[in-house]
Amino acid sequence: MTGKFIVFDGLDGTGKTTFIKMLSEYLESKGFKVSVTAEPTKGPSGVLIREILGGAKKASQEELAALFLADRIAHNSELDELINEGNIILCDRYYYSSFAYQADSDTMGWIMDMNLNCPKIRVPDLALLFDSPPELCLERINKGRMGQPLEIFENLKSLNAIREKFALIEKILNESGRNENIVRIDSAPKLEVVFEEILKAVNSLLGI
Ligand code: TYD
Repeated sequence: MTGKFIVFDGLDGTGKTTFIKMLSEYLESKGFKVSVTAEPTKGPSGVLIREILGGAKKASQEELAALFLADRIAHNSELDELINEGNIILCDRYYYSSFAYQADSDTMGWIMDMNLNCPKIRVPDLALLFDSPPELCLERINKGRMGQPLEIFENLKSLNAIREKFALIEKILNESGRNENIVRIDSAPKLEVVFEEILKAVNSLLGI
């Protein structure tokens, strides 16, 4: 069978990495070939992006959006191979993050167009958009960062803004008539409950 491309996107601190691991183990136990990928990638554009995100280099949001586009195009040639080999690809973040993190009201149209109209950028077979109250996200983010003080207010403010952007993107894409298969996952409940929701969407995609 040809593979499938499943994207995990959404706010930081919603547990995407944990759920990718759980789903990967589940699918392998069912006999599927699984491949886990992420954006930014480890390729040349991805390395530059990490330097910018880490503060070592400076760039505007427009430059970053273009770098993420280049990184995504490079990523897609790897995805093509993996799909042809029959892998179920679980990808940590995709163009939804570019819309939520790089775009503002002036640049949303341009950033969406260049990603959605690029013939080298595939549409996911399923996009799981993880959502949780920002307070809960912060709690989860902080767990792994003992001793590093966080500007709680600033972080809550920006998480809230990004959360609203994800909700807007979902609405725009659902109303656009495009062939997007977006499922919002409420990741506030217990792990097992959230995983059941993920399995419902994935099993329906894979017909199992
Ligand atoms: P993340 O999955 O949070 O990586 P890490 O494992 O290092 O925490 O992703 C890294 C960051 O990249 C995240 O803050 C969101 C950002 N990002 C964008 O701003 N635009 C994009 O298009 C993508 C794919 C990611």
